[in-house]
Amino acid sequence: MSSNNRVIFFDTTLRDGEQSPGCTMHHDEKLRMAHTIADLGVDVLEAGFPIASHGDFDSVQSIARSVRGPRIAALGRAKREDIEAAAKAVEPAEKSRIHIFLSTSDLHLAAKLRITREQAIDQIAEMVALAKSYCADIEFSPEDATRTDPDFLLKVCEVAIQAGATTLNLPDTVGYCLPEEYGAMFRRVREKVPGIENVVLSAHCHDDLGLAVANSIAAIEAGVRQVECAINGIGERAGNAALEEIAAILMVRKDKLHYENSIVMEKLFPASQELSRYISFGAAPNKAIVGANAFAHASGIHQHGVLANPLTYEILTPASVGYNGQHIVLGKHSGRRALEHRLGELGHKLSKEEIGVVYERFTALADRKKDIYDQDILALLKSEPAVA
Ligand code: KIV
Ligand code: ZN
Repeated sequence: MSSNNRVIFFDTTLRDGEQSPGCTMHHDEKLRMAHTIADLGVDVLEAGFPIASHGDFDSVQSIARSVRGPRIAALGRAKREDIEAAAKAVEPAEKSRIHIFLSTSDLHLAAKLRITREQAIDQIAEMVALAKSYCADIEFSPEDATRTDPDFLLKVCEVAIQAGATTLNLPDTVGYCLPEEYGAMFRRVREKVPGIENVVLSAHCHDDLGLAVANSIAAIEAGVRQVECAINGIGERAGNAALEEIAAILMVRKDKLHYENSIVMEKLFPASQELSRYISFGAAPNKAIVGANAFAHASGIHQHGVLANPLTYEILTPASVGYNGQHIVLGKHSGRRALEHRLGELGHKLSKEEIGVVYERFTALADRKKDIYDQDILALLKSEPAVA
């Protein structure tokens, strides 16, 4: 495995994200989103699952034809027809990858695939080698890796590497792992699998217990150099690790996490907004980094602090992630200072006495009305002849 400190961002917004409820996108939306994701600076863009439908095949192929910058990956099960479809779809790409997966936990082998461990090993060896005959860059994922017998997982990794895998992705498919366990799994694999130093290790985390991002960071600290993530954290069930959160953690906590990456931070918020326009839901208001409230201050004490010095309550500037909107939210918890500040921004400089009058009217209004807009504030001014 590479000993460098560069973290590869593998975006799966258009694959794991798009396959989840409410996230379906049309061909043109996918294509536009792919360009936006490329502009974000991701290293690998997983464009879809070509065998899943003709539409998916076409989207992956169009993205492979027109998006430049990231490596374009296509997903397939460890089956000949999937691999052939994936290979054909990414063929026009400047840089391509085939991503193959096969479940390896005993539960999945018995209940879902109805094959033995030995059959799984043979299938991995054969299908990774087949994919390699089409594409030099092969990622293999043992699905449900975190619930796979740890010794069997070592064998799976070894076989995939021998067959030609260049990236080994060990997904926490059901979002079950604790950060410490996830990191330990990678340390063990790094220690025990022959040839591991020649491949990139990758993390792919789901958020069923709200740990996807923490697990991804734990993986990086355990030597993983690729993280799979999605804008706004979309993905199966509770979603994938949120790209913007991982990027922000690596930026804000650079003091502890000495890793490089190529994400263009100021493009995060616009990318999140664009995705929200294409799918059926936006980021939750309290979602870290890209939620509407991520940089909003409503309480008087916080507003006073932020106006005096943003560092009092902000660990990263809104502008650093491309958010340029209002962040002092006026409401019943706001103080005089915040009202005065907003009035100043709206072009009204008032005396202390005048502010006192308007503030009284403001608090009365805020008790009746949940959201106070600029026009409400301006109306308060107009109804008071003493102030300009
Ligand atoms: O969650 C998962 O295991 C996956 C694989 C296909 C990588 O999405
Ligand atoms: Zn997944």
